[in-house]
Amino acid sequence: MKSSEIREKFLKFFESKGHSIVRSSSLIPGTDPTLLFTNSGMVQFKDVFLGQDQRSYTRATTAQRCVRAGGKHNDLENVGYTARHHTFFEMLGNFSFGDYFKRDAIHYAWELLTVVYGLPKDKLTITVYQTDEEAYGIWLNEIGVPAERIIRIGDNKGAPYASDNFWQMADTGPCGPCSEIFYDHGPEIWGGPPGSEQEDGDRFIEIWNLVFMQYNKDEQGVLHPLPKPCVDTGMGLERLAAVLQHVHSNYEIDAFQALIKAAARETACSDLDHNSLKVIADHIRCAAFLIVDGIIPGNEGRGYVLRRITRRALRHGHKLGQTKPFFYKLVADLVGEMGVAYPELAQVAERVAQVLQQEEERFGETLEHGMKILEAALAKDSQRLDGRTAFTLYDTYGFPLDLTADICRERNVELDQAGFDTAMEHQKQTARAAGKFKMSAGIEYSGAKTNFVGYEKLAQASKVIALYVDGSPVQQISAGQSALVVLDTTPFYAESGGQCGDRGGLSAPGISFEVSDTTKIQPDVFGHHGELVTGTLAVGQSVEAHVAEAVRAQTVRNHSATHLMHKALREVLGAHVAQKGSLVDADKTRFDFSHNAAMTFDEIRQVEEIVNCEILTNSAAQAQVMAFDDAVKHGAMALFGEKYGDEVRVLDIGSSRELCGGTHVKRTGDIGFFKIVSEGGIAAGIRRVEAVTGEVAVHLVQNLTARLGEAAALLKTQPDDLLHRIVLVQEQVKSLEKEMTQLKSKLAANQGNELASQAVDIKGIKVLAVVLEGADANTLREVTEKLKNSLKTAAIVLASVQDGKVSLVAGVTADTTARVKAGDLVNFVALQVGGKGGGRPDMAQAGGTNPAGLAQALAGVAAWVTERA
Ligand code: ALA
Repeated sequence: MKSSEIREKFLKFFESKGHSIVRSSSLIPGTDPTLLFTNSGMVQFKDVFLGQDQRSYTRATTAQRCVRAGGKHNDLENVGYTARHHTFFEMLGNFSFGDYFKRDAIHYAWELLTVVYGLPKDKLTITVYQTDEEAYGIWLNEIGVPAERIIRIGDNKGAPYASDNFWQMADTGPCGPCSEIFYDHGPEIWGGPPGSEQEDGDRFIEIWNLVFMQYNKDEQGVLHPLPKPCVDTGMGLERLAAVLQHVHSNYEIDAFQALIKAAARETACSDLDHNSLKVIADHIRCAAFLIVDGIIPGNEGRGYVLRRITRRALRHGHKLGQTKPFFYKLVADLVGEMGVAYPELAQVAERVAQVLQQEEERFGETLEHGMKILEAALAKDSQRLDGRTAFTLYDTYGFPLDLTADICRERNVELDQAGFDTAMEHQKQTARAAGKFKMSAGIEYSGAKTNFVGYEKLAQASKVIALYVDGSPVQQISAGQSALVVLDTTPFYAESGGQCGDRGGLSAPGISFEVSDTTKIQPDVFGHHGELVTGTLAVGQSVEAHVAEAVRAQTVRNHSATHLMHKALREVLGAHVAQKGSLVDADKTRFDFSHNAAMTFDEIRQVEEIVNCEILTNSAAQAQVMAFDDAVKHGAMALFGEKYGDEVRVLDIGSSRELCGGTHVKRTGDIGFFKIVSEGGIAAGIRRVEAVTGEVAVHLVQNLTARLGEAAALLKTQPDDLLHRIVLVQEQVKSLEKEMTQLKSKLAANQGNELASQAVDIKGIKVLAVVLEGADANTLREVTEKLKNSLKTAAIVLASVQDGKVSLVAGVTADTTARVKAGDLVNFVALQVGGKGGGRPDMAQAGGTNPAGLAQALAGVAAWVTERA
């Protein structure tokens, strides 16, 4: 039975039992920060189990794409070394949300396995949680499994509920006892039943896990009963296929064989059992689906897992001798294998291939160098790879540590992990020291934190609590001095989160300090940089701190517009768009994000329209401080891998909700008007958009309109008619060019008549070798014919030069071809102008690329004819 049929039969079976077939969810688990990737079928239903979400159905069935690479469930290191581990796999599952429970779950599973798939009953062994009498009873009395094949498994992992038969998605969340079904691959394979000492062998393979979800586990490890008991089951499609296709290894099933053959084709490997082919086949599935779900190779979080997997595949390709990009070519094969079940893959296949190709090209350059470094180190010591080299490979050549570990494992070399960690720590410290220096510029401060009031106010009475000149503390400064001022309370926003620091002034009677920038000198301490214009400013002085309103107003417009634009970009380009950096000041917003292709005019226009529409709606912006978990639960966009405190500020503006500490407009209408100025790529997979708002945007459009008006005036038309006018002018130019070419030829033809008189007589032959200015090859031929007629007995060479190229035509009258041949004549000239030629005895032509030799070549024709005639 083919894998696709197995998948289909599973879904249809449960559909016949009243289950809704639900599409696989993305590999990126919504806004759930507890999970790196979707690792089982229940992830998309987590909130339904917890009673926090409701669906229109109480029974569901799915074929869910899952990744177990990184995070709580990680199988990456085992891929290629065992028969049944994958980074990516498909989980078939059925779910009950407070509907049926243990009895039906067990009956359904048994019926599907033994009737629909026809597995022999005596090949199946069952496990139940130690204390689960109910499940035990159902298996024994209702299904009729003999007692010796029902095994109780307790807390076999050393802690309460740490058991193979107690399933939990992550450290917290829905969980419950489970019952597993094992398939016996037969006594010829080593291994023992679950719970025995040989259970890790490959003889008894777990194929289906029925989880009876009953609890929600909190952070203290306490189990709270769920509102209603539920069912969550999971069966690995690849394992079941191995059983039903009577093969022992998952890699022998149909779905993998096609990919293994494709990998062999692209690496020219003839040994289809080669482990590297398995690794490549596994990794293309994982990498491709991660990209489908919006991940792009990067240096952190999920992007780094994708990079590690891709690079590991490339290294295995390299091992098979393929040093050119090849991995991306397997995307087409994958679509052939899985595109029907997962149309989302087929839809974006081209983009997936593009992203992989870029990553291949990028790593390809360093892979080879890195391998040389590695080989050299192993040549010195074949037992152990030192941590320093592993770190250099990581840091300079982009070898993820597990890639280096993979090579070491293959060659039985020990990897000096401790040495690697030390080198890494050393580098971090150096970077940290450099960062600290920059942040505080060597400033020592141990006073109170700054009280920031700038969300509500732009002016505030405050007090100077510290002063620094050139980084050193001072008690007072006098007019003309540049300094850094720390205040107890301030309305000035200090540069952070991409928003630049405020400008403005500090004043008191007779004192005026101009603030040119505000930065944080410690996480909660703001430094006001600037110059004292008048008076003397001392520590303890009371001042009025006032932010430059117009600059701030323009900055907040740009910042708020950035949030709306981020949301709009995700709507227009897709959910893979993630912020990679931003810079907001009074002039503009600059926003970097992950996306793999240049935006089209139409996409830019759509983004502008969405943002301007939000502006016109003029809805109020709202900021609230809440617990991080609540914020994420309420759908706030948080940057993955970013560290947030327990308390975060959530900003709602228009339809966007983001975590943000910046300052914003009161209503979307305050932004006024939004216009994108430019769009371009700044790194592989990263685009940059610059946009303007408010007055700046108005000025931009005014300038554009003015230039359009000027252009129209130059073409003596109205702006509306400009495009039409340009097309007309272009056509006019084209037709004039054509006309001019024809005229030039005509002129040349006329010249030809005058040329006859220039022919010299050599032994009765009229010889003529001249340049005919402006003639094309056609004209040269025509004129030659004419000259042949008028000169009667003649040998003629005509040449012209156009765009640095020489055209030559030679003609010899019929009565003379026995003495001089046109082919030889044209070749004689052509050879001297960087060309070669030939043709009939009476007419021949040639070209050349070196006009410099032409004059001399033509001058030599008379002598050449003299010699031959
Ligand atoms: N969620 C359960 C598992 O992954 C079914 O095994």
